[in-house]
Parts: sequence; structure tokens; C-alpha cells
Amino acid sequence: SRAGRLSVVASAILVSSAAGANEDLMRVAKRIFEPIPSAAPAVRDNPITHEKVTLGKSLFFDSRLSASGVISCNTCHNLGTGGVDAGPRSIGHRWQLGSRRAPTVYNAVFNVAQFWDGRAADLKAQAAGPVQASVEMNATPDHVLKTLNSMTDYVVMFSKAFPNEVAPVTFENFAKAIEAFEATLITPAAPFDQYLEGDEYALSDQQKTGLKLFIEKGCSSCHNGINVGGQDYFRFGVVKRPAEGLLPKEDKGRFAVTKDLGDEYVFRSAPLRNVALRPPYFHSGQVWSLKQAVGVMSEVQLGAKLSDEETDEIVAFLNSLTGQLPKIEYPILPTRTIATPKPSL
Ligand code: HEM
Ligand code: HEM
Repeated sequence: SRAGRLSVVASAILVSSAAGANEDLMRVAKRIFEPIPSAAPAVRDNPITHEKVTLGKSLFFDSRLSASGVISCNTCHNLGTGGVDAGPRSIGHRWQLGSRRAPTVYNAVFNVAQFWDGRAADLKAQAAGPVQASVEMNATPDHVLKTLNSMTDYVVMFSKAFPNEVAPVTFENFAKAIEAFEATLITPAAPFDQYLEGDEYALSDQQKTGLKLFIEKGCSSCHNGINVGGQDYFRFGVVKRPAEGLLPKEDKGRFAVTKDLGDEYVFRSAPLRNVALRPPYFHSGQVWSLKQAVGVMSEVQLGAKLSDEETDEIVAFLNSLTGQLPKIEYPILPTRTIATPKPSL
């Protein structure tokens, strides 16, 4: 019948325009975001070699570099739990409570600068900080170097990692080796990466709707690029000030770095790669569900009221940002000698 034929034509048009809309969405997404590469990226002034990465990995897991002998980088950036600790804020030397939530080390190499306020330019500059910070590892460069020099295996590893240097066991090389290891902590091949590489079926319909909302509602104006964030700084509370618990008054964010009044309560837009793996959220670590975090963002950054369904769709999209974590074999560390500094609390 004519009506039958018409409805076939109508549904054919619907199908083709849905396909068109899908192509448009992919094209738009490709302009805003970028897939994670499958190999470690190059870092400035620090060629990545296998030997450097092997050394950096041992250093990352070695708690003897802390004053107490208890804390390693992995204590707060646990590679088994999304590169973060249990939260809300990190606990460091002598049970001291840090002031912020630990950000993940996975894909940190892609961030424009390090820390919630971007105060370290890159991972080498960053790595020098926590060992010395009294609330974190409470060590001194001297303690680190004494510890490393006390174990021949470490000295050999440094010579292999920095083959052209006469005295390679330096604090700078310690930071470079850690940076090299961290550059390998990338998580490619998330469903979203597969989608950006052209696989229309890598995302579910709900995730595609979520992606569309993420772009149309304005989330992607701050969370974009390779890390879906981590590229720029914005006030936390553009439209409305978040609750005191989420944005404690005393932490003024980027203001501490630039001393510019316009930077009060400005933070780096959080990188959202693997975000589903690492609650609690925000620099204060007070929000334990991703759904609630999305609700906070839409309210305080955009002044938008999302329906329950829309919030679920965005959360579904955020789940598509979970990539393949590298396989990490726990390193067997050099054995301490009588010259190795003893733990001190
Ligand atoms: C920030 C690596 C030790 C807690 C960071 C960042 C990196 C990193 C790369 C910045 C990530 C980003 O901004 O996206 C390391 C390494 C360590 C180490 C290589 C060992 C040498 C620790 C320890 C703790 C800790 C032991 C906890 C006691 C934190 C916290 C931040 C942070 C709270 C955020 C600080 C802020 O934004 O002000 N770390 N970390 N880290 N790390 Fe670590
Ligand atoms: C943090 C999602 C819109 C800037 C976050 C976090 C999530 C998120 C889940 C927490 C990540 C973590 O703790 O690791 C979203 C969604 C948005 C949106 C779904 C749209 C509904 C925006 C907009 C801006 C922005 C429009 C900029 C104007 C930031 C900043 C942070 C953040 C600065 C870090 C806040 C802090 O200091 O803790 N976002 N976001 N976001 N986002 Fe958004």
C-alpha cells in the first residue's frame, strides 16, 4: 500500500539522518578530543630509554626513599587503584593529612602542567617535590642520595640509565628516571579512543548521547584535548560557589602560583581519563560518586539543571574514558646494606 511504502521511505530517511547525526557527532568529537597514543610520548630534555624506565619504576615503588621507610610514590599514587590513594586527602609522613586529593599519575604526562594548581611545569619538576615535602615523604635530597649510593645495584642502574655521566647518581637524574617511568603510565584503547579512531560501535547509544550532552552543555569547553581536561585553568564555581566542604576557603588554588586576584579558586580543569576508577572527586576529595560529581559540575560551572537521565548519560560517557592500564610487574628492589639510612620517624 501507499501508506506502507511511505512509512518505509520515512524510516529510511530517519535511519539515514540518524547515521548523518552520528557522523557529525564523531566529526565534532575528533575536533575537540584526541586519542591516547599506544606508545609512551617523548618528554622534554629527557629521552626515554628502557634502562631509565626500569630505574624509575624501582624508585617509584621504593619506600626506603622516604624518611620513615614506609611511604613510596605508590602509597599515594597506587597503580592498582587508578593511580590514586583511598582519599579523601593523602596521608603522609607521621600520619599527617595533606591538603588535597592525590591526582592520578596515569596519563599525567599529557597534562599542561602538574598539580591541581599547575605549579610544577612537568613531571621532572614535580618528582623533586613529594620526596622532600614534610607532609609527604619528609626526606632530603641528601637522604635519597645516601640511600641510593648505599646499594650497588642502584648505582649500576643509574650508570646504565645515564651512560655518559661520570657521577650519575644525582637528585636530578632521580627525578628524570621517575619522569621516564611515568611517561609509560598511559592508558590507550579506551572505548572512547576507539570511537575517535573511527569505530562507531565502540560507544553504546547511551554513551553517544552522553558525549553529545558533554559537548552541547559545555563540559567540553573546559574538559577537552587528549586528557579530556588538564589543559587549562578555570574557577571552581563559575556560576555558583560550591559548598564550603568542596571548596575550602583557605585553598585558593592557582592564586598561590600567580598571586593574581583573578586566579582565586582557579584550578586546572581535572583530566577525566579513567575518572570512573578513582573516586572521591575534586581537589578536596569530598564527592564519592561520579554521578554526584557530574551534578556538582553542571550546577556550579554551567548553571544547568540536568535531568536524572541526562546525568546518567554523561556518566555512561565518562565510563567510556577508562582505558587499558599497563601491566605492571612489581619490581624486586635492591637489598639494603649496612650503609643504608635506617627508618626514622
Ligand atoms: C601530585 C607524582 C609521592 C600525594 C602528584 C602529581 C604527580 C605525582 C605526577 C601531579 C599529577 C597531576 O597534577 O595530574 C608523585 C611521585 C611521587 C609522589 C613521582 C614519589 C616521588 C606522593 C606521596 C603522596 C603524594 C608520597 C602522599 C603522601 C600527592 C598529592 C598531589 C600529588 C596530594 C596533589 C598536590 C597538589 O595539587 O597540591 N604526584 N607523587 N604524592 N601527589 Fe604525588
Ligand atoms: C572537575 C566533569 C564542566 C572545570 C571535574 C570532575 C568531573 C568533571 C567528574 C572531577 C574530576 C576529578 O576529581 O578527578 C564535568 C562535567 C561537566 C563539567 C560532566 C559538564 C556538565 C566543567 C566546566 C568547567 C569545568 C564547564 C570550566 C568552566 C573543572 C575544574 C575541575 C573540574 C576546574 C577541578 C575542580 C577542583 O578543583 O576540584 N569536572 N565538568 N568543568 N572541572 Fe568539570
